[in-house]
Amino acid sequence: NQLKAEVESLTAATHEKAEELRIKYLSKKGEITSLFNAFREVPNDQKRQVGQLLNELKEAATAKINELKESLENSASAGSETDLTRSADPILLGTRHPLSIVKNEIVDIFARIGFTIAEGPEVEDDWHVFGALNFPPEHPARDMQDTFFIEKDPDVLLRTHTSSVQSRVMLNQQPPIRVICPGRVYRNEAISYRAHCFFHQVEGLYIDKNVSFADLKQALLYFAKEMFGEDTKIRLRPSYFPFTEPSAEMDISCNLCHGEGCPFCKYTGWVEILGCGMVDPNVLEACGIDSKVYSGYAFGMGIERITNLKYQVKDLRMFSENDVRFLRQFESAN
Ligand code: PHE
Repeated sequence: NQLKAEVESLTAATHEKAEELRIKYLSKKGEITSLFNAFREVPNDQKRQVGQLLNELKEAATAKINELKESLENSASAGSETDLTRSADPILLGTRHPLSIVKNEIVDIFARIGFTIAEGPEVEDDWHVFGALNFPPEHPARDMQDTFFIEKDPDVLLRTHTSSVQSRVMLNQQPPIRVICPGRVYRNEAISYRAHCFFHQVEGLYIDKNVSFADLKQALLYFAKEMFGEDTKIRLRPSYFPFTEPSAEMDISCNLCHGEGCPFCKYTGWVEILGCGMVDPNVLEACGIDSKVYSGYAFGMGIERITNLKYQVKDLRMFSENDVRFLRQFESAN
């Protein structure tokens, strides 16, 4: 009876342990088996009673050990230590890259005034990057200093600006045209905190009848206020680009010192953010658009520059180093 109680309270944590118990009690040399062997010595008048007890014991032990094995198998297939009350492991989500956050914001701002996205290849030919955009054959931008050439005759190169997408759009479509062209561009520059051999741009192009410089200025003022806040001021300075005439560069009032002067704006109160101008009639003609009927404006900005201004990133290289300590700081920005 004592052995029966012992057998009934058996536990086993693993299948191997349960098997050890079977060997201990029920194998050929097991404790219960040896009791059966000793049965011969039991006096005849007690044989009936003792035999019954022995059979009950054997049955109880067999049942218990089978039960242990079964429950171990069940919990093994359910994943042995499943705690259904535990909360789930958090799924680690990546964060949007700061340049993507800012690019999306620029795209959204222009989408609200009717601009749609146009994209094109990063590996381009001379015609789309320079030729159609009124670059004279000996223009320094074509120089080995700036452009990564892949092949000569016919020229294959990495685009140095997304204006190449604008020439593709103009060659494929008659006005009205209202597109922005986000994308990566490449220039042969030494890598430092303020320059990289690749960066990102958003360029815009608007061509229709009667598009004027005032329209350009209004669109850019709207952009500056949406991007940097309602009290942002803009300033246009005369400049030169082969594909626009007249051309300008646009500064915004420094959003760190609000015009007071600080190291960020080199104490001028202004920060340059983009180039722009009226599309040169030569460009329209080269792309099959009648410059006597249509006019247009174009502008282009570096996304890195805008991101630096918005988030005060001081080293451009941070954007391409994939340091999660840097990237995680933009977690809540989108
Ligand atoms: N493509 C010029 C650049 O990469 C920017 C620009 C675009 C200037 C459109 C004027 C008009 O610097």
